[in-house]
Amino acid sequence: MNIVFLGPPGAGKGTQAQALAQRHGMIQLSTGEMLRSAVRAETDVGLRAKAIMEKGKLVPDAIVVDIIATRLLEPDCAGGFILDGFPRTLAQAAVLDTLLERLHKSLDAVIEIKVDDDALIDRLSGRFSCAKCGIGYHDRYRQPKTAGVCDVCGSKEFARRADDIPETLKSRLMAYYRETAPLIGYYFAQGKLRSLDGMAPIDEVQLQIERYCQALRLEQHQGHGEAGADQDPAGRAKSQPKARCI
Ligand code: AP5
Ligand code: MG
Repeated sequence: MNIVFLGPPGAGKGTQAQALAQRHGMIQLSTGEMLRSAVRAETDVGLRAKAIMEKGKLVPDAIVVDIIATRLLEPDCAGGFILDGFPRTLAQAAVLDTLLERLHKSLDAVIEIKVDDDALIDRLSGRFSCAKCGIGYHDRYRQPKTAGVCDVCGSKEFARRADDIPETLKSRLMAYYRETAPLIGYYFAQGKLRSLDGMAPIDEVQLQIERYCQALRLEQHQGHGEAGADQDPAGRAKSQPKARCI
């Protein structure tokens, strides 16, 4: 499956993309993570993107398109990918369509996670992640099982994002409504849009996505005969593949 997650900052795109990638052995392609890693490494792209991201504005299309175009060519994307934070403008969406056509791939679905604006500030102000493996947490909604220790890798170091401050959130939200929200109509017109209630707790949103993906897989298997050997009759993966990010 090839899927796009769409939604405002803090909607839960990264949280759900990480979980879906883990369950289905897909690749999570987060342009935000790729850009933050370029900023940390002080590459040319990172140096150009840093100030723009700190202001909560969108990095120019040419930069992110270039990053994604290169990444999609890598062999690990062949088993399915989740685009988390891309595309974010109509121009990026048009380029993505062309790129996928050239690679003989297509998007199976665009999942819009709908969340009220008031909840976004609450989510972003409490967000932190493991500094080692990147898994996401929240001060109230998703705490590590043992306080101060990452559930996944056992690290005791955590990080908060520089752009998770109220001043920046306003411009990130404005960028979303002005430049990204038009993609809802774009993908609706393509018959690929699926909107979910992102106000529900994390596990419930996960369940909504899982049910939808199961239905998608079933449709695909009906087109190709029986469920694959790596799946049970309901289409669930028998083994637990490892999460892969970027
Ligand atoms: P990016 O990293 O993509 O940030 P974003 O879109 O602002 O989204 P976030 O990562 O903040 O939110 P999320 O939806 O992933 O929420 P999360 O799952 O973490 O982009 C950063 C910047 O990079 C941009 O501003 C831009 O400058 C640049 N950029 C990136 N891509 C670009 C592109 N394509 N074009 C141009 N520029 C680009 O959840 C948030 C918190 O809430 C977590 O703590 C989580 O635990 C909690 N949570 C999640 N779901 C729930 C729930 N259901 N209930 C309660 N809490 C929840
Ligand atoms: Mg994210």
